[in-house]
Amino acid sequence: MQTVGTDIQLPKDLYLEATSRCNLRCKGCILFNGGWEPQRDLSLIELIMICDQLPVLSRVALHGIGEPLLNDELPGMIRYLKDRKASVFLNSNGTLLNERRGNQLLDAGLDELRISLDAASPAGYKAVRNSDEFHRVVANVRAFSKHIKSMHLPCPKLSLWFLGTRENISELPDFVRLAASLGVAEVYLQRLVYFQDDQGYGLAKSEKTLMGSDAAITGWINESHAIAEQSGVRFNAPAFASPFDSLQARTGNPFPWRKCYRPHTLMYITAGGNVLPCCISPFAVSNYGSIILGNVFYRSLSEIWSGSRYRIFREKRQTQTPPECCRGCGTLWSL
Ligand SMILES: C[S@@+](CC[C@H](N)C(=O)[O-])C[C@H]1O[C@@H](n2cnc3c(N)ncnc32)[C@H](O)[C@@H]1O
Ligand code: SF4
Ligand code: SF4
Repeated sequence: MQTVGTDIQLPKDLYLEATSRCNLRCKGCILFNGGWEPQRDLSLIELIMICDQLPVLSRVALHGIGEPLLNDELPGMIRYLKDRKASVFLNSNGTLLNERRGNQLLDAGLDELRISLDAASPAGYKAVRNSDEFHRVVANVRAFSKHIKSMHLPCPKLSLWFLGTRENISELPDFVRLAASLGVAEVYLQRLVYFQDDQGYGLAKSEKTLMGSDAAITGWINESHAIAEQSGVRFNAPAFASPFDSLQARTGNPFPWRKCYRPHTLMYITAGGNVLPCCISPFAVSNYGSIILGNVFYRSLSEIWSGSRYRIFREKRQTQTPPECCRGCGTLWSL
């Protein structure tokens, strides 16, 4: 059994940031704000060094803050993780998903590919993704989806992701239509995370979120549900929530962050080796140092997992004054 200390099992789920480099600067992303860490790739050797410390791996994400397809060792990483019997998924901006890279992902055995598109038009894409690559990404997804279908391949499961903000929400119904036309069976509405104790940056600001949605926003979400149902597309939100539920604050519970299981079950490791409590935290904090719980290039994973920084983080999360990153989870921001 993989245990450490007295009672907390080592995690079976990992977020491993394949790279902190990116070819885009989306307006909701920390990279738009300059980023938290120096830009570098995780190497395959480093990934193996990290994963070898965990006897059991269940689910591994190969994205963090950066574009995973930029790392040439990505196929080797997926192959290693598949040999370890883990389920492997990643989010990508899709700009680099050409035939060669697509085939590499297929051959390596990737289980799930999530394309962050956020818009149904070039103008909407520019407003959120800060880029003119809308048509290229759509063409890449169309070709990849067609290829998977023509080969009757069970995986990777393909989905389109939409970061919901007041700038782009009117495009959600067309986004669902677009997914259907591309043969993509799943759409996710993602919540915008932002610094709670700060001015925020770009689109990552409280006034840009869909919280406290008005009638127009509710209408677009309802319409998207209906289109999804008609076209056989699954319309979801992360963490098994429905899109509507995911946008609600848990007002009945004054301390909802206490229910969060992430610091007990998973680790997020950046390309620079820093261990963070979850993939939400870097978006939700203005003091980055406060969420670094150790570095796997300097200490063993089990030492970090059972170390004092992790212990204090877990304990503080149970209180009425949790760490900065957790403070809005479930109230200002629902998780
Ligand atoms: C940081 S990106 C890294 C992977 C890849 N570059 C991509 O764009 O999918 C991972 C996910 O975070 C989402 N994201 C970006 N800014 C966000 C924010 N402020 N709040 C919540 N999610 C955000 C992106 O849309 C993407 O789906
Ligand atoms: S959201 Fe993804 S594609 Fe956009 S800047 Fe961030 S890492 Fe790059
Ligand atoms: S930031 Fe939110 S998701 Fe992350 S550990 Fe804190 S409560 Fe959990």
